[in-house]
Amino acid sequence: MTSMRLGVIGLGSIAPFFLEAVAADAAWDLTAVCDLDRDKLAAFAERGVGVHTSYEELLDSGTVDAVVITLPNDLHAPVIEAALERRVHVCCEKPLTVALADARRLQQVSRRTGAALFTAFHRRYNRHVRDLREQLPSASHIASVRLRYHEKIEEHMGSDQWYLDVARCGGGSVIDNGPNALDTARFLLGDLVLEDATIGNLRSGVEYWGDLRLRAVDGGVPVTVELDWALPEGETKDVTVRLKDGGVLSADMLAGYTAFKSSLSHEYRGILREFRSSVARGGAHGDDGSAIVALVEEAYRTARRKEKRPRMADPSKGPFAGRMVKLMYHSRDDRGMHLSPWGSRCVSAGAVHELVTTFESPRRTGEKVDRVGFLGFAAFDEPGVIERGDAFCVDGRVVGTVVGFDECHAPNHYNVLIAAGRQLTATELGLSVGTRIEFRENTELEPS
Ligand SMILES: NC(=O)c1ccc[n+]([C@@H]2O[C@H](COP(=O)([O-])OP(=O)(O)OC[C@H]3O[C@@H](n4cnc5c(N)ncnc54)[C@H](O)[C@@H]3O)[C@@H](O)[C@H]2O)c1
Repeated sequence: MTSMRLGVIGLGSIAPFFLEAVAADAAWDLTAVCDLDRDKLAAFAERGVGVHTSYEELLDSGTVDAVVITLPNDLHAPVIEAALERRVHVCCEKPLTVALADARRLQQVSRRTGAALFTAFHRRYNRHVRDLREQLPSASHIASVRLRYHEKIEEHMGSDQWYLDVARCGGGSVIDNGPNALDTARFLLGDLVLEDATIGNLRSGVEYWGDLRLRAVDGGVPVTVELDWALPEGETKDVTVRLKDGGVLSADMLAGYTAFKSSLSHEYRGILREFRSSVARGGAHGDDGSAIVALVEEAYRTARRKEKRPRMADPSKGPFAGRMVKLMYHSRDDRGMHLSPWGSRCVSAGAVHELVTTFESPRRTGEKVDRVGFLGFAAFDEPGVIERGDAFCVDGRVVGTVVGFDECHAPNHYNVLIAAGRQLTATELGLSVGTRIEFRENTELEPS
């Protein structure tokens, strides 16, 4: 194979792994680099490599046949397009693009121009992942697959804070680590369909936690992808395959690589080898990274529709407190309350509502609630919101969970229905007039 002239656009945190791989691979010859930061260019100029502060200038220089793009996520689409239109082959860091529409457009440009469009998914070249793939039995013997991608994002960022800016990154852990985890699952099991996605621990609109539930198209193996950007320190990146006969196969992607990011050296060599083959085959129009962009986009569509945010660092409301003003001591098995359609109720300052515990867990609007215990009436001095799922606490102790409301006494007051596993009254809870009660947002829900 004769060597091809390669440019690298973006000289930040990940670029050194490409540069090291280029230096070790006779198939590539580094001829140009680009970065806005001139300080990063100086050493390359001394080596006779062409240096540019504009990617268009690099692409127009006639010195490259292919480029590696290692720029913030929002710049991938325009820079890829500019390269493909000049018939320059592209190897882009994941995610190929933030928006699926851009990925689809770039596929068309790649097909029209014949320039390769290739996404760098480094974990499919990890030696432990490849060993695991060799050992995998057929899908009919696999019960489930779990991938974990846990890290502290601050340890992986360069000096620029673009990862934490939703407009530039496109999201948080789901768009950042999701593609590597999802591609690893896809490498092991083939195409995947998303079944559910939950995000949490949101900080300025960027999620630090994600939980994706998928299924392999061939064989239907269930796949869980756990993403966490908020590990106190260190990282966990592994795959666990549970077999139907009780056996377990696994791959710790970092095993044997004790120095930070040291597994990346062999993985990025794999990327460049595969990119070169892809170019030789006439482009990677089939598996170009857009399948992963589609899964990530769908995961956000699903997760952002969900009202609850498990693992939220900043809850959406503080504890909402009231005090008991009238106690009740009886229970009934034939009360005939009905679950109202409302998931939440606003409470005005000075309002009084009735607190009712139930043995039952009504879910459907109109469902009858017969077996209840009466705690009494609570007054609320401040305005606030009570919602389904809130923990109900007495003197700081969790006693039950709000399951909804009955409005047989509205507009005078609501019955707040609290699932407590028993029909509790003021007696069992030892309530007094003036006892402090609280409704607290439940931020540690298991993903549904
Ligand atoms: N850091 C990692 O561990 C890691 C791992 C895998 C993939 N990636 C991916 O690699 C890409 C780059 O990530 P990074 O961590 O290296 O980012 P980074 O912020 O460290 O580096 C980006 C570089 O691009 C330069 N740049 C920004 N705008 C530019 C422009 N218009 N023209 C030229 N240069 C410009 C910046 O000066 C900087 O040197 C991202 O898509 C990321 O998802 C990163």
